[in-house]
Amino acid sequence: MPVVPLKEIVDRAFRERYGVAAINVVNDLTMEAVLAAAVEQRSPVIIQTSVKTVRSVGLDVLFAMWREMTAGIEVPVCLHLDHCPDRALLSDCLHNGWNSVLFDGSRLPVAENLRQTVDVVAEAHACGAHVEGEIEAITGVEDGIGSDEEASRQSLPVALDFIRKTGIDVFAPAIGNAHGVYRAEPHLDAQRVSDIVAAEPIPIALHGGTGMTDVQFHDLISRGCAKVNISTALKIAYMTSNLAYLRGAEERDSWDPPSLFTHVRAAVMDMAAAHMRRFGSVGKAG
Ligand code: 13P
Repeated sequence: MPVVPLKEIVDRAFRERYGVAAINVVNDLTMEAVLAAAVEQRSPVIIQTSVKTVRSVGLDVLFAMWREMTAGIEVPVCLHLDHCPDRALLSDCLHNGWNSVLFDGSRLPVAENLRQTVDVVAEAHACGAHVEGEIEAITGVEDGIGSDEEASRQSLPVALDFIRKTGIDVFAPAIGNAHGVYRAEPHLDAQRVSDIVAAEPIPIALHGGTGMTDVQFHDLISRGCAKVNISTALKIAYMTSNLAYLRGAEERDSWDPPSLFTHVRAAVMDMAAAHMRRFGSVGKAG
């Protein structure tokens, strides 16, 4: 089971009510470690790249890494472009092999967001790729995109009209979730997920996964959140494991980069595997 379109991964998860971790990677080490965790756990996984990561690594290098690292892989995986308001970059990713994109038109008036999302869906589907759509900005700044001010939520009819008219494959509603570290436990409007799914059975993307509790994950996944986004947890695992190892290296006055990489890789794999277990996707690779 190699690289597959996003829908193949999320539609089954939606039907069977488990969640698939959609993890933002930042470089080669983290991409490889998250894929290795998926293989070890026999779990599907969605590898996400932010616009910032695409720009910092470079689109061609990033995709070459992806192609090499997934050659012959035996669990379902796909490559997703997270929050992208830039239509040109979005097209570049679609035409260079990304399996799905989140067109982030959430700062646009809904009618204009809808009009552009229709175009993105047509372009993506022609490339054999899929589209996640959103009508409200998710609170918090993620890799330079977004705002800390909570956007007001659109009504259910507006959300359903957007889903139906655009033909998006996954929908990302704002439910009180936020990117980054939660300063207090979030109050999540789980009922909004149920209301959308009852009226329009579409897999829901849950943003702002870092810091949610097991109870919140189980509840939201059981209501239809099939794609669960995790970014901050990877950044924390990556940076704190680097820091801890480098402090030890300084004490020992021992400087061996491959040992550092092994240590950090294990920390990132543990973080990814822990989320796969929490979301119920372990063993679902078949
Ligand atoms: P966190 O950074 O809170 O894990 O959110 C990730 C996310 O939603 C990426 O789009």
